[in-house]
Amino acid sequence: MTRFAKALACFALALPCTAALAQPQFEKPEDAIAYRQSALKLLGAHFGGLAPMMRGRVPFNAEQAQQEIAVLRTLSALPWKGFGEGTEGGNARPEVWKDSAKFQQAAKDLEASMGRLVQVSGSADFDSIRAAYSDVANSCKACHDSYRQRR
Ligand code: HEC
Repeated sequence: MTRFAKALACFALALPCTAALAQPQFEKPEDAIAYRQSALKLLGAHFGGLAPMMRGRVPFNAEQAQQEIAVLRTLSALPWKGFGEGTEGGNARPEVWKDSAKFQQAAKDLEASMGRLVQVSGSADFDSIRAAYSDVANSCKACHDSYRQRR
């Protein structure tokens, strides 16, 4: 039975379902790679979507920024489940798995800077939101510098 079928059966028959089912399940390494790349692509699209406002090229709209930052926080939590053991490949460097503790730390650093961005996003204060946004960009870059293949 595939994991998906198991999840369905577990739902339909009201079998005791473990909390693990709340996480993405991957049949093959390629599925994990596709998942993380899709999640990162969405993260990149939404992060980049805010850039014109953060650079002052379009008028600052506090409510829009706050909503978009909430989306970013959700998206930024997703990719890391797709970097499990045995899923080397894509544009990830082998160091992701060799220095996995450091890689996990880089993901935690993003979580922390994203948390600060969420915190200030309610303030409607453009300068603090812009500064926090720029810190998040640095978290993205720090990880990419070490763990993403240069193309
Ligand atoms: C903990 C490390 C880490 C952090 C933090 C990180 N990335 Fe990445 N990112 C990667 C790796 C590794 C890849 C290559 C993944 C692959 O191809 O398997 C990647 C790939 C990407 C891609 C390309 C996805 C695709 O295949 O089309 C985008 C876009 C991206 N990241 C955006 C971001 C943005 C925006 C942030 C910050 C908000 C961010 N990343 C933070 C490690 C990270």
